[in-house]
Amino acid sequence: MEAIASFEARQLRDVLGTFVTGVTVVTTRDASGVAHGVTANSFSSVSLDPPLVLWSQSLSSRSYEAFHGSDHFAVNILADDQIDVSNHFAKSRDDKFSGMAHTSGVGGVPVLDGAAAHLECVKVAEYPGGDHVVYIGRVARIAQSGQRPLAFGSGKYMVAYAHDLGPTALRLGTSKPADLRAIRLAVDEMPGIATALGEHTLCLSVWGNHGPTAIHWEPSRQPVSEQLRPGLVMSITRSATGRAFAAFLPEAMTSRLVEEDLRVSTAARETTEERRAAFDDTMRLVRERGIATAVGASPSPIHQIAVNAFSAPVVDADGQMVMALSVTSCAGRLGAEWDGEVPRGLAVAANRISTMLAVSRAEVAA
Ligand SMILES: Cc1cc2nc3c(=O)[nH]c(=O)nc-3n(C[C@H](O)[C@H](O)[C@H](O)COP(=O)(O)O)c2cc1C
Repeated sequence: MEAIASFEARQLRDVLGTFVTGVTVVTTRDASGVAHGVTANSFSSVSLDPPLVLWSQSLSSRSYEAFHGSDHFAVNILADDQIDVSNHFAKSRDDKFSGMAHTSGVGGVPVLDGAAAHLECVKVAEYPGGDHVVYIGRVARIAQSGQRPLAFGSGKYMVAYAHDLGPTALRLGTSKPADLRAIRLAVDEMPGIATALGEHTLCLSVWGNHGPTAIHWEPSRQPVSEQLRPGLVMSITRSATGRAFAAFLPEAMTSRLVEEDLRVSTAARETTEERRAAFDDTMRLVRERGIATAVGASPSPIHQIAVNAFSAPVVDADGQMVMALSVTSCAGRLGAEWDGEVPRGLAVAANRISTMLAVSRAEVAA
């Protein structure tokens, strides 16, 4: 990497863009009570004691006079589903707050709904900084929603995932789904597996951006329901397929969805904590057995009848789960025991596909 001393604004901007930041909307209210807001990623922490933060504003900003003249500002740290809010406040226009849900904070500053966190600040200093002005604020009030923050780098919005998995996290940077070759190979195997397992419905799923997603069904002559369509997203905590992904994918990929699912679950257990404890027990069993189950005492929300389902992980040559192979049938035709003939046959079939994937990758590499 060679350093250059003469560079153009574009090059400087590109280099600065490699510093990935969160995205904030800084807000204030002017002397006549009008609310102003600016998308800004120049926000930074300065000091913990006293609690100080800064952000810098372009002198050409339309709202410069409003921020310059106000004693307060709020920093709204946007959540990962607020790209539209970021884009909205990044455009100069009148009345940016019309239709934008917000409340009032210290000094009347607008606090946006739905943010990952916010800080209400009293402005304590203002320094010239070239074509920008730097504002320092003393933090008066804070709040945090627990939502994942939006990130920004190299001119693009990004999603911030924890990087605590070592090499696995690096591989997951591309969230390593089953590639087309692997899917084709598994789909080709499914009619044979269906015949071997008997009159039950088979399903192949991948980890999609909304969780466990069916991509191929091998219906039996007695299909379990009319709902067997590719693209069907299954519950991560209640379906056998979802539980297989939750047990065998790295937790960083699944934890958010698990939390959400447990929160909205209508299961008999009353509190989220009780549901969490029961789910953790289930996960232990699934990992021990190598197979996930969902035994249907009550009608399944997908199939509308009581079904029993089992799911086994298909892993690639690196041992990472890339697909789930699942079998389901109405409870009267498929026993609920996890070590019955059908689930054992399913696990063998999933292992066989995993081996074929490893072998075929070795062949591609050779
Ligand atoms: C991700 C992102 C970060 C930005 N960061 C800043 C910033 O730190 N300071 C700034 O003055 N403008 C920043 N901008 C540009 C302003 O949001 C934009 O100029 C806006 O129109 C200013 O609003 P105003 O003209 O109504 O004051 C950023 C824009 C984006 C999309």
